[in-house]
Amino acid sequence: MDDVLKAYNGKKVLITGGAGFIGSHMVEKLLELGARVTVIDIMLRGNKIAHLKDNRNLSIQEVDVTDTRSLAPLFRGQDYVFHLAAVVGVEETQDEPVQLLDVEIGGTAEVIRLAAANKVKRFIFASSSEVYGDSDNPMAEEGPFNPKSTYALCKLIGEHYCRAYYKKFGLEFTALRYFNSYGPRQDDRFVMSRFIRRALNGQELLIYGDGNQTRDFTFVGDSVHMSLLAGIMDSGINQIFNLGTGRAVSINRLADLVLDNLEMKSKVRVSHIDYDQRRTREIEVFARLANVDLAERLLQYRPSVDLETGMQRTIDWYLKQQL
Ligand SMILES: NC(=O)c1ccc[n+]([C@@H]2O[C@H](COP(=O)([O-])OP(=O)(O)OC[C@H]3O[C@@H](n4cnc5c(N)ncnc54)[C@H](O)[C@@H]3O)[C@@H](O)[C@H]2O)c1
Repeated sequence: MDDVLKAYNGKKVLITGGAGFIGSHMVEKLLELGARVTVIDIMLRGNKIAHLKDNRNLSIQEVDVTDTRSLAPLFRGQDYVFHLAAVVGVEETQDEPVQLLDVEIGGTAEVIRLAAANKVKRFIFASSSEVYGDSDNPMAEEGPFNPKSTYALCKLIGEHYCRAYYKKFGLEFTALRYFNSYGPRQDDRFVMSRFIRRALNGQELLIYGDGNQTRDFTFVGDSVHMSLLAGIMDSGINQIFNLGTGRAVSINRLADLVLDNLEMKSKVRVSHIDYDQRRTREIEVFARLANVDLAERLLQYRPSVDLETGMQRTIDWYLKQQL
């Protein structure tokens, strides 16, 4: 499948949120493929592509996606726009509701308007499995949708922006519903990283509720590979894809696997705690598993990294940071 991705060679790709977790892996892969990459990011969580700053095919622009004037010149001549910039993380999106709406609605409106005005080949929107809320498992692209948070609702609206811009201006789009992407460079807002970091520090692992809630964890290398395929293949035009693995584990099992892997079972406690004001029960999704048939059929791709391997790679990365 890397043959398909070779089409990015020499292409100009703009990535909002490219200094974040998924974005940083996407930038690395695109540079490897010979693309010329522009990143727009305000580094809310630091700059995860600092190690690439000397690459002459990379331009890093510290610009806010709501800042129309600074944004406009960066879109000239771009072939592909990946819009990943977002306020991410359950607590963050609860704590910063205005910033969330400004970025997810205002920022997305601005970015897609500029993508259409500059007639880019494709607009690729980072959506989320959160749009499904609690609904049928496995979750298929056509729904049903039960968004439980403002963040989830904003992602659905973003998808509607994509459809509206196609209808009105012919801007081709692809929307990507990520299912719990994890891997090196992810920070503590996310459960896998939090468990690994806490376990390595000998701190107890805290699980909200009974821990039976399930997630479809997708290694970031697979998330990025699928995103890039979906963004360039004709079969991805005006499609919305679940980017998951089709396998789910409970949070209890995840804690178990992390401790097993680190051989810390006898040293680190696992505790169940009640939902609180920052992490409310109302917005918790209790079962999340992707139906990946569409991605398999249209992109001819199946995630290649299983949970144990991906977790090992993530742990190895954490251990290297501690050296
Ligand atoms: N990681 C996952 O499992 C997951 C799951 C579902 C959806 N997503 C979506 O994928 C995208 C990438 O997520 P991630 O995990 O890499 O998150 P991340 O927080 O690591 O990256 C988001 C980036 O957006 C940047 N950003 C935020 N507001 C901005 C603004 N106003 N202007 C410019 N840049 C801004 C941040 O600085 C950050 O670098 C997001 O849209 C997120 O909603 C991720």
